[in-house]
Amino acid sequence: MDTRVKVGGLDLKNPIILASGTAGYGVELAPFLDLNRVGAVVVKGLYPYEREGNPPPRVWETPCGLLNTIGLQGVGMEKFAREYLPRLEKYDTRIIVNACGEEDEEYLRVVDYLQGFDAVAGFELNLSCPNVREGGRCPAMWPQWSYEIVKGARGLTHKPLWAKLTPNTSALVEVASACREAGADAVSLVNTYLGMAVDFRTRRSRLSTLFAGLSGPAIKPLALRAVYTVASSVDVDVVGIGGIASGEDVLEFLLVGARAVQIGSINLREPSAAERILEEAVSLLQQEGYNNFNEIIGRFEGV
Ligand SMILES: Cc1cc2nc3c(=O)[nH]c(=O)nc-3n(C[C@H](O)[C@H](O)[C@H](O)COP(=O)(O)O)c2cc1C
Repeated sequence: MDTRVKVGGLDLKNPIILASGTAGYGVELAPFLDLNRVGAVVVKGLYPYEREGNPPPRVWETPCGLLNTIGLQGVGMEKFAREYLPRLEKYDTRIIVNACGEEDEEYLRVVDYLQGFDAVAGFELNLSCPNVREGGRCPAMWPQWSYEIVKGARGLTHKPLWAKLTPNTSALVEVASACREAGADAVSLVNTYLGMAVDFRTRRSRLSTLFAGLSGPAIKPLALRAVYTVASSVDVDVVGIGGIASGEDVLEFLLVGARAVQIGSINLREPSAAERILEEAVSLLQQEGYNNFNEIIGRFEGV
């Protein structure tokens, strides 16, 4: 079957992408997963500098989900380019850099520096990371702020530019639309939902921070709604993310308008999941008489 899709300015061999933060810099998964089989790898969020992230405890499992407060630990853009990119570029997959910033200009430094490397196929601006402006809240909560960062990055690179959005805003559609206007080729929906875990015995948080990000199957219905809402109202490619753990999940996201999907938390439990999920999606499509993924994208017929 022809598994190719076009999304956000990229031609992918298939619509299965490894989500940022759940697959390291790609190469860590190579002992378990044939990276040549995935459409793309989005690497762990990169700042211009190395970061330690938050102190432990940083993860807490919930029914059907995972709360994490890793705090964007990472090796920084230069070490990534020096030590990880040369190993990752040997695989026949697209490499997408998840760019982060505590200040707006840090996003631009990451894009400016890494866009010079041929192996980098494109960027995903993580507009969902805490910023010093607005007391640690993230740019993707506001359309204007998102616009400014995407516009700045657009001025620095011709490579595909995606904006990764937070669902923790009432302005999701406006933010997606602002990103499109600023020149984003796609929006990635969604990052984690803010939640808490507390221990009544100690009367304290179970994590080292007050709030943490919820991911995994628990968020799938919420993410599906976010993808549908944006895909049906904004003229922009959507990359669906949130709780995907099976081939059927993939087809559901494509049906409501995603042009590709990212798989996240499932990689932590089952590092070879991407291959299984792709095989399941292909065989389900074939069983239903489809010839390719494009035939199902956006074909949702409503209630
Ligand atoms: C441990 C962990 C680390 C993550 N790190 C990042 C990151 O660095 N950048 C980013 O944009 N998203 C990050 N995410 C969010 C995921 O990429 C994804 O958007 C989210 O987990 C929802 O997908 P899932 O339900 O399939 O896990 C992280 C998620 C987890 C669980």
